[in-house]
Amino acid sequence: MSRTLVNNSPRTFRAPGRVNLIGEHTDYNDGFVMPAAINLSTFVTVWPRDDRKLQIRSENFDDEIEFDLDEPDPAPRGHWSDYVVGVAVMLGRAGHRLRGARLDIRGEVPLGSGLSSSAAVEVATACALTANSDLAIDRRELALLCQRAENEFVGARVGIMDHFVSLFGKEQKALLLDCRSLEFKLLPLPDTVNLVICNTMVKHELASSAYNERRAQCEAGVRHLARFLPHVKALRDVTLAELEEFGSDLPEVVYRRCRHVVTENARVLAAAEALERHDLYRFGELMRGSHFSLRDDYQVSSGELDLMVELAFMADGVYGARMTGGGFGGCTVNIVDVPYVEEVTGFIARQYEHITNLRPEIYVCEASNGAEEIR
Ligand code: GLA
Repeated sequence: MSRTLVNNSPRTFRAPGRVNLIGEHTDYNDGFVMPAAINLSTFVTVWPRDDRKLQIRSENFDDEIEFDLDEPDPAPRGHWSDYVVGVAVMLGRAGHRLRGARLDIRGEVPLGSGLSSSAAVEVATACALTANSDLAIDRRELALLCQRAENEFVGARVGIMDHFVSLFGKEQKALLLDCRSLEFKLLPLPDTVNLVICNTMVKHELASSAYNERRAQCEAGVRHLARFLPHVKALRDVTLAELEEFGSDLPEVVYRRCRHVVTENARVLAAAEALERHDLYRFGELMRGSHFSLRDDYQVSSGELDLMVELAFMADGVYGARMTGGGFGGCTVNIVDVPYVEEVTGFIARQYEHITNLRPEIYVCEASNGAEEIR
């Protein structure tokens, strides 16, 4: 006689936030990015249910909702739970049959600060729901499904970077990702430095409309350039010389958006070479170039981000500093020599608060492993 044993004990999955070291606003242009997963995560604990309901509880929002997996045409509620429900919906639409579950969510990635709290909750949810349903899904497919949840359910047209690194990040490594082929390479980050993340405490609220506007401007640039260069499918395919030659009729603002993306892709590849040579000075120079290009050409920085970066440039022991993430607020990332970390963070915090009256949060992070089950 055989008997099916149902294991009702809870399981917990962790997915990290990320910090992007270089390669900003290049992912949705089929380009290159270099993020690292960080040691701030979202945790999802899952219990199986024997019906088709998801009972979803957020510790951070002290709130709970219920969702029926058989609901025919679920719509977003404009609510924290959309990130979770969106993942369940996209898994279902891709043909993966989910079992009902209770999910408890606890996040330590600060919200709205450019460290991808949304990707962290989506990826942790995807890991929990698939494990709870005994589904083995390739991690690349999971990353794409989580991105689709955010694009099509939550309604934010984000690229693939955040979900990818939340799944594929590694301790002490930066991840160089080709966002077209999804091939990646892990590059060594020396243990003599920390990733110091400085939160301006200004939320990136403007970001989603400005983000979509930037995407549209990049697409307009591609349409124009493809008339002269038929192989161009995305800004990834354009060199600076080609942009200079064929882009002169573009509206000034579109030209500058394109110039940021084209030069940023080149900076990412140069930064990867620098890391392989353990040349942090060169890496830092490229981060600085990235910040200026985001400030002047892509115009997604802010007074607070610029100030935070200028303060870092004034401190000893900082190889590089730049805004990180979508922009308009959020955080800067700084590569700092370990012995200088206390001095640097103290200096930046004091000066920033003195000038802005905002008390910054500073996270001294390490590159960490991607999503995993916690045993
Ligand atoms: C946001 C998006 C990412 C990426 C960055 C900009 O963080 O989620 O996909 O586009 O902005 O580099």
